[in-house]
Amino acid sequence: MSAPVAPDARKRVGVLISGRGSNLQSLLDAAADPAYPAEIALVISNKADAYGLVRAREAGVATAVVDHKAYAGRDAFDAAIDAALRDAGCELICLAGFMRIFTPGFVNRWPNRILNIHPSLLPSFTGLHVQRRAIEAGATIAGCTVHIVTPDLDAGPILAQAAVPVLADDTEASLSARILAQEHRLYPAALAWLASGRVRVDGNRATVDGATADGVLLSPQP
Ligand code: GAR
Repeated sequence: MSAPVAPDARKRVGVLISGRGSNLQSLLDAAADPAYPAEIALVISNKADAYGLVRAREAGVATAVVDHKAYAGRDAFDAAIDAALRDAGCELICLAGFMRIFTPGFVNRWPNRILNIHPSLLPSFTGLHVQRRAIEAGATIAGCTVHIVTPDLDAGPILAQAAVPVLADDTEASLSARILAQEHRLYPAALAWLASGRVRVDGNRATVDGATADGVLLSPQP
């Protein structure tokens, strides 16, 4: 059992969502532990009806809606997000099903401070509909990736990945659900590493102090 982190040592995190917010929920649940090195200070959605906003309110976390349609362009939208995050004292950002792409200017104002979770084993299958595309491509292993956000879409340093098998009778829905269960384990772990200063970035490689990865993944098993 680790000792509680001093409250002022917990990194303040803004979580950005566009919808259901199940990954947000996994972060809220992790941060409910006083020993977790991050607290969720603000949840921002670009959609007023995102269910994740309900999850945030139920957890007693401040929310904001920044509707991209209310802004003249991407620069103005990004400036509004940036202002909301800074007003709330956020030090780190987690994108959790946030379906907008930031301008390079925004990303460069938060160097190595934005995480994203993506439902594929990057660098394979960037963009949208990645679970369906993994099935269609005949992949036998799929998964999810937490990476640091850089101006290039889905291309920043990879912090952590989790793999699942693609089964012969998988549909997009069944594979997405199997991957999502791993997303909910991976994202709180990756945020904890970043928030506690264990992540080192060298070019496009990220490493985590003290972390190990043993074994071999085979799918199907012989
Ligand atoms: C998750 O599967 C997440 O990896 C994906 O959207 C879903 C959001 O679910 N993100 C992306 O595809 C980003 N390119 P959630 O709202 O329940 O967390």
